[in-house]
Amino acid sequence: MQSSSSTPIALPQHVAIIMDGNGRWAQQKKMPRTYGHKKGVEATRKAITFFAKAGIKHLTLFAFSSENWNRPEDEVNTLMSLFVSSLKKNTDELVNNGIRIRFIGDRNAFNKKLNQQILKSEQQTAENDLMTLNIAANYGGQWDILQATRELASQVQSGALEVDDISADIFEGFLSMAGSPHPDLFIRTGGEQRISNFLLWQLAYAELFFTDVLWPDFSEETMQRALDTYASRQRRFGKTGEQINTA
Ligand code: IPE
Ligand code: IPE
Ligand code: MG
Repeated sequence: MQSSSSTPIALPQHVAIIMDGNGRWAQQKKMPRTYGHKKGVEATRKAITFFAKAGIKHLTLFAFSSENWNRPEDEVNTLMSLFVSSLKKNTDELVNNGIRIRFIGDRNAFNKKLNQQILKSEQQTAENDLMTLNIAANYGGQWDILQATRELASQVQSGALEVDDISADIFEGFLSMAGSPHPDLFIRTGGEQRISNFLLWQLAYAELFFTDVLWPDFSEETMQRALDTYASRQRRFGKTGEQINTA
């Protein structure tokens, strides 16, 4: 079924995706894993366009986890140079489409070239407000909570903040995705049903959608199916179904 032009009744404000399955996609074709990552970039472009057109205001993509450094060196190097080249190639299109890009994660481990390109892409798109695109790179949910805690503790130590004033809102202000609401819809391709240290704090009440489709094959049809599935769910946030229905 092709995506319908009608907007689903309940559209998520924020979609977060674990783009998984590049390596297996390539291996199935008897190709090196890095070929899968190259094809994965195309799928990423398609997903950004689809969700922006669908009216999603925040899209967060898991591109490289804190744990992915443990992969073979040539695979890590390929991923790093793919980040630079795809940012270089696609930043103008983001500008034209009103998309603001922001990197979340620990940038300290990236080389100078990548860090410069990240800054450039962020600056060039800073004024765009159609959609915010968060790229999680060298990101880990535990890292994020720890860095926020450190920052919070140092503010308490300096006297800028009182312990009793620490609330969920204040805490979230220190997380790297501050400013974006929590994801409403979480999608993972590639068949695994786990969070893999993605947005641990912010996924508290996300609706989860898993598909066996490998990331390079992630089609508009599957994207639309994820949105339709989301629209069919009842989000209760701890209340009863009756309370939600009569609200
Ligand atoms: C996701 O695909 C991309 C990254 C983690 C960078 P994988 O490379 O994890 O693909 P599989 O899971 O091995 O197939
Ligand atoms: C999660 O995928 C990270 C990204 C998609 C960037 P992994 O392939 O690294 O996850 P695990 O190791 O199978 O849980
Ligand atoms: Mg994987």
